[in-house]
Amino acid sequence: MHHSDQTADDTADNTFSADERAETETPSAEAHAELRRALQRRPRTVPPRWLYDDRGSDLFDQITRLPEYYQTEAERQILADHSTMIAEMTAATTVIELGSGTSDKTRTLLDAFAARGMIERFVPLDVSEATLLDAAAMLGERYPDLDVSPVIGDFNQHLHRLPTGGTRLVAFLGGTIGNFYREERTAFLGALADVLDPGDWVLLGVDLIKPVDRLLSAYNDSAGTTDAFIRNALSVINRELGGNIDVGNFDYVPFWDGREERIDMRLRACEPERARIEALDLDVELESGEELRIEISTKFSQGRLLAELAEVGFADGAFFTDPANDFGIALVRRQP
Ligand code: SAH
Ligand code: TRP
Repeated sequence: MHHSDQTADDTADNTFSADERAETETPSAEAHAELRRALQRRPRTVPPRWLYDDRGSDLFDQITRLPEYYQTEAERQILADHSTMIAEMTAATTVIELGSGTSDKTRTLLDAFAARGMIERFVPLDVSEATLLDAAAMLGERYPDLDVSPVIGDFNQHLHRLPTGGTRLVAFLGGTIGNFYREERTAFLGALADVLDPGDWVLLGVDLIKPVDRLLSAYNDSAGTTDAFIRNALSVINRELGGNIDVGNFDYVPFWDGREERIDMRLRACEPERARIEALDLDVELESGEELRIEISTKFSQGRLLAELAEVGFADGAFFTDPANDFGIALVRRQP
């Protein structure tokens, strides 16, 4: 396994390459402070990383297989159709994947790079330790000649930890960028542009704008899996931070916000809720009917996405969609 340089501050926020990690990954002080701020905003929100404990990662995996959830198969189709061209165009020697999860679809991409014979290293990065390490072990077996170096970390804080050298391709799939607020998205893309060198590449998957009924049903499935996934954020906070939120006192209420062009996934308190979150030294009081926004999922047009990328210095690439035009993947290059 690749051995990354460790500096003194590495131990302070618990980001380790897998071979040097602490026994238990605990969220950093920044992550706590971020949650504390988010819970005091109006509407109160919860940052996405609190959705992905082991159970959350498992529920997410179930979402990707729901009949209503078209995104995963659409993105898989795009990768199946265009990975060879992506490998040819970029000739990357290092592929990095942010928020990699199971790296399931990424195998299609890695197969194309491996067939071309120039790739040396694959670096998946995720906050969800168990899922990340399982995926890395599986990939290590599938590609014995590839240096697979997982990084446990937060893509909003730790981009400066990504390996340098060679030609890099950073894949950010699954429409995860749609789960960022506009300002976070701008900050993230800017930070990514900062850590990349001219000639490095970004491969970015986004869900495209489409009729509202299809969008909504993807986030309001009949099996209740999305409800369970969103609700799980409260259980994670209770368990990891000594909270006593009554998870059953909430209804899952997703809706389409047409002005922001995003699905807004909320939990509404049925009865007044008084909760204490010990590790944040925070008391939260919700009125009956008050809503917590747990997640957003922004939908894009090709033009808007490419314009945002160009603003921070990514251009000169391609835009792929599936035959039904449900999902898009932008391939752009860091400009000099
Ligand atoms: N790329 C995969 C998984 C997408 S789900 C796919 O396309 O199916 C989002 C992933 O991002 C999860 O694996 C989750 O653990 C991870 N994640 C969420 N917040 C994160 C953060 N702040 N930093 C790093 N990873 C994060
Ligand atoms: N990024 C994907 C999406 O927005 C996956 C995802 C993230 C998701 N958070 C979610 C799916 C919450 C359902 C509910 O669709």
